[in-house]
Amino acid sequence: MNVLLTGGAGYIGTHTAVELLEAGHDVVLLDDLGNSHSEAVRRVERITGRTVPLYPGDCADPAAVDRILGERAIDAVVHCAGLKAVGESIEQPLRYYRNNLDAMLALCEAMDAHGVRQLVFSSSATVYGDPATVPITEDMPLSVVNPYGATKLFAEQILMDLAASDPAWRVISLRYFNPIGAHPSGLIGEDPNGPPNNLFPYISQVAAGRRSRLRVFGADYPTPDGTGVRDYLHVVDLAQGHVAAIEHLADMPGHRAYNLGTGEGTSVLQAIRAFEAASGRPIGYEVVDRRPGDIATCYADPSAAQRDLGWKATRSVAQACADAWRWQSDNPNGFRSG
Ligand code: WQD
Repeated sequence: MNVLLTGGAGYIGTHTAVELLEAGHDVVLLDDLGNSHSEAVRRVERITGRTVPLYPGDCADPAAVDRILGERAIDAVVHCAGLKAVGESIEQPLRYYRNNLDAMLALCEAMDAHGVRQLVFSSSATVYGDPATVPITEDMPLSVVNPYGATKLFAEQILMDLAASDPAWRVISLRYFNPIGAHPSGLIGEDPNGPPNNLFPYISQVAAGRRSRLRVFGADYPTPDGTGVRDYLHVVDLAQGHVAAIEHLADMPGHRAYNLGTGEGTSVLQAIRAFEAASGRPIGYEVVDRRPGDIATCYADPSAAQRDLGWKATRSVAQACADAWRWQSDNPNGFRSG
């Protein structure tokens, strides 16, 4: 298939591009490069030995999407573009709603106009809010916990309504748990702007000596060691989940949502130990207060994705740490390392 990948130069986008290309598909990338680097796309080309067209532009700009759909024979779209920092979304809600929802609407309008009605959307486990029980299944109640999460939930609602209005649409929302790690080549990985918000990029920078110590947000949760438990999945597994979704779209009318996770929980202290083992470096940390808005435990029941998409995460947290450490050590300044 010929796939348009929005946010294609970002962390999830680049890994998804590699896996799509290696599965024999073609990709065209659209990215505004606001939180990503064109160097990342050159690295995708190095890994795959393929030429990857990058259109610099914003998904919310109808002309940008219209141009690509006019120039390229696109079969399906994977929509990864979007603002994704939870804290920033609380400080700048209008920017988050405007950006993420405009992008979704403009993209779907342009797709409809061009008769391209197959879409895979990057959603998030944040749509489950604070789940009543774990593991989380797709039919559990959804709720809004912050503006970022609201944009994911509203976008899924838009897609559900759209698919209900016209049986030609085939849409899959992938609810990511916590993606970590990097491509095993060490050529692409996560490259956060400024201090990382998420646990693994922060740990990785402490290991590298770029930051002095990790703050562990709370050790008094009702979990085995008191620290927060999450479902961390290797970004290559996540990327392969997109390939599986793309390859099953044609037989799946309507809108469907699937969890992409491992089904296993890892605590913050376990994450620290795993990264120490992979890097051979000590990770200094101190326990501080809980981070507002955090929940104790969150992990997936990924069985629906296995049943319907034939997808299952196969890589361990240890492997993800080893790959993240290779990326970090080979590229101490991310894509600016040259
Ligand atoms: C994981 C655990 C923290 C940083 C968030 C968003 C979600 C998705 C992914 C996407 C928690 C603890 C973290 C640190 C710590 N968004 N932690 N010290 O909160 O599960 O999910 O990111 O793009 O929508 O909510 O992930 O990596 O921030 O935190 O102790 O410096 O690590 O409290 O238990 P989270 P995270």
